[in-house]
Amino acid sequence: MAGLFDKQAEIYSDSRPTYPSEWFSKLAALTSQHSLAWDAGTGSGQAALAVAEYFKQVIGTDISEAQLKHATQHPRVKYIHTPLSLSDDELVTLIGGENSVDLVTVAEAVHWFELPKFYSIVTRLLRKPGGVIAIWGYNDMEVSPTFDPVMKRVRETTLPFYDPKAQCFLDGYRTLPFPFESVGLGSEGEPLQLDIQRVMSFEEMVRGLRSSSAVTKAKDQGVDLLPEEVIKELESAWGGPNVIKTVTIKAFMLAGKVKV
Ligand SMILES: C[S@@+](CC[C@H](N)C(=O)[O-])C[C@H]1O[C@@H](n2cnc3c(N)ncnc32)[C@H](O)[C@@H]1O
Repeated sequence: MAGLFDKQAEIYSDSRPTYPSEWFSKLAALTSQHSLAWDAGTGSGQAALAVAEYFKQVIGTDISEAQLKHATQHPRVKYIHTPLSLSDDELVTLIGGENSVDLVTVAEAVHWFELPKFYSIVTRLLRKPGGVIAIWGYNDMEVSPTFDPVMKRVRETTLPFYDPKAQCFLDGYRTLPFPFESVGLGSEGEPLQLDIQRVMSFEEMVRGLRSSSAVTKAKDQGVDLLPEEVIKELESAWGGPNVIKTVTIKAFMLAGKVKV
């Protein structure tokens, strides 16, 4: 699994979106204290940096050393490589110990995790009461009536290359187990739908597509899902290679606290 993300680490770090600052102010307002946050599956720190605006210390962890190598440094963010071989006790100690974490975030990554193990670690780590976990992802974008059907066809070609684990990501986390008590930002089976507005060049949009795990996996199997003719078709539907567009990324979030 780490290998899948190692290969795309560089392109990932400069192509993936950051998240709206209002999300983090809302989450920070829900936690009773602001000492420690944990961003799991941090990648190159897309969410960790924003969390650091509200929390004194953020621990960003990832199983991929290559992703962490490209992470943006910040005085309040400490990145830690956490291979799958770590025991639950080791992980809990590394992050800060039982009952120590005010906010756990997982951005565009939880569908890769072994969920019962992860949720058990989160339950141990979160401050009780007062700690909050928030997970989110995004799986689609809206650009224009001309572009969207072309992108839909391209996305359909990627589906056979998604790991079965990613199924709940494709359905917008509607089928993702989330055994926490709702704090008003989505709940198990009913994720909160959110939009991320981004101004993007055609090249940035294509780099984001290329960083997808399905595109990487297809390439490993000798299948190029983005050959020249597909790129040309996308480019023409976009309006040309130099056109800048406002894109709406379709995101979904679930947040909660430990059930008592
Ligand atoms: C799609 S990236 C998301 C990165 C970043 N959080 C973001 O918002 O863009 C998924 C990340 O999850 C990491 N990952 C996958 N399985 C993991 C696991 N079991 N524990 C920790 N990280 C994991 C991958 O190495 C990768 O960096």
